[in-house]
Amino acid sequence: MNLDNVFKNNEAWIKRQLATSETYFDDLGKGQSPELLYIGCSDSRVTAEDLMGLGPGEVFVHRNIANMVSGTDFNAMSVVEYAVTHLKVNHVVVCGHYACGGVKAAMQSADLGVLNGWLRNIRDVYRIHKDELNAITDEEEKYDRLVELNVKEQCVNLIKTAAVQKAYRDRGLKVHGWVFDVHTGKLIDLKIDFEKYLKDIMEIYHLD
Ligand code: CO
Repeated sequence: MNLDNVFKNNEAWIKRQLATSETYFDDLGKGQSPELLYIGCSDSRVTAEDLMGLGPGEVFVHRNIANMVSGTDFNAMSVVEYAVTHLKVNHVVVCGHYACGGVKAAMQSADLGVLNGWLRNIRDVYRIHKDELNAITDEEEKYDRLVELNVKEQCVNLIKTAAVQKAYRDRGLKVHGWVFDVHTGKLIDLKIDFEKYLKDIMEIYHLD
């Protein structure tokens, strides 16, 4: 890859944006008020804005290996706090994807060094849903299902945060679980019953 092209591409992109509005960058410089916080995988095939057809200023993005929301991850927790409490987004999305290398690695018995601690969170998802997953004989199907269950559990982790609980109570913020199918390009809504989970876990995780 010739990185000079990146700067040429940037010049062409500036021209395209200015063709839509002469004040495009002046407007962008004024600040941001995105409606959506997107938490996705770092996988190079899964872009955030592109697959949703959104542009600069429309979505606050956090990405890490296997789209995890860990309560001990200062980075993810800071993003959630900032986007939910300060930017006041109305929707938080956890978007996983089929063929996720992080999820696949967690299904294998291998010592992956510093990644072990990170992937342990996905192994915990497997443990919680062991009965359902072990009943699936087709390996691909099991892998896809773990991707979906991981999204669901990360949504539950979001609901455990005080910021999300407070924003739900104050302005009806919603949490969504999606999966991107890299084989077809399709975005699938897992239709996570956010309010049901909220009710279930508030008994134990009520913070606000
Ligand atoms: Co991935």
